Amino acid sequence: MEYFFRNGEGDEVIFVHEGSGTLETNFGEVPYKDGDYVVIPRGTTYRFRADGPQRYLVFETPGLIEIPRRYRNQYGQLLEGAPYYHRDIHPPTELHTHREKGEFPVKVRVRGGYQSYLLDYHPFDVVGWDGYLYPWTFSIHDFEPITGRIHQPPPSHQTFQGRNFVICSFCPRKLDFDELAVPIPYHHSNLQSEEMIYYVSGNFGSRKGVNVGSITLHPSGLPHGPQPGLAEKSIGVRETHELAVMCDTFHPLKLTKLAKDLDDGKYWRSWYEGAQDDRVAETADDASGAGLTSHF
Ligand SMILES: [Fe+2]
Repeated sequence: MEYFFRNGEGDEVIFVHEGSGTLETNFGEVPYKDGDYVVIPRGTTYRFRADGPQRYLVFETPGLIEIPRRYRNQYGQLLEGAPYYHRDIHPPTELHTHREKGEFPVKVRVRGGYQSYLLDYHPFDVVGWDGYLYPWTFSIHDFEPITGRIHQPPPSHQTFQGRNFVICSFCPRKLDFDELAVPIPYHHSNLQSEEMIYYVSGNFGSRKGVNVGSITLHPSGLPHGPQPGLAEKSIGVRETHELAVMCDTFHPLKLTKLAKDLDDGKYWRSWYEGAQDDRVAETADDASGAGLTSHF
């Protein structure tokens, strides 16, 4: 980045799919690597210093990004049964106070647009700070999956809560261990949420027509579940190595024109047993059986 950035109207969560580097902020430096969720509260002035190529999934919200309430006790501490704890949260490491004068461009996100400022001093002239609002990282690889004898529904994967949406992590884990368990999600209709999933790595057993970097969207009220044949294939499978990030919104998720251009136009047909689609057929052969997408 050749400029500094500040979001004046929303918190941000940046999931780092690929790449590493340092997030420079007015609170200090925040190192990040692939698999990290970088949480940046609104009002933070920052700049990404990337080491090589990067691939992110970015969330922005006018509400707050919070740790789910049910993971915390009455004092705000993380409970022992929560899928992560306070040592997994990494605040800024070092604060470097800059005194340089010169020309420093800062772009500020405001009211649906951007304003550009040119400062005559370095914006990181902070000598110290206190409090509990700061940017931090949490690695998806530190999320401890909650598994059970029978199917665990999607709230067990929840990582963050926002206003009217959640972010969940589907991580490698042991599958349902009852002798009679069909270790793949049941069919259902989500009546009050839109489901967006971003596929990070692994074989996506309960999905056909999906690859690394794919995004799927299941609008609310649409019955869905594993495609034909996958439930049978899943029997006897003990674990899954899939990694994905899900965002469920509780209000309609509107698409941009860009999203329309990205639609492959084929995914919806992947439930047809006789689908004449090379990519769908190929992926189905690769399917390892059980599914990460425990709510599908
Ligand atoms: Fe669903």
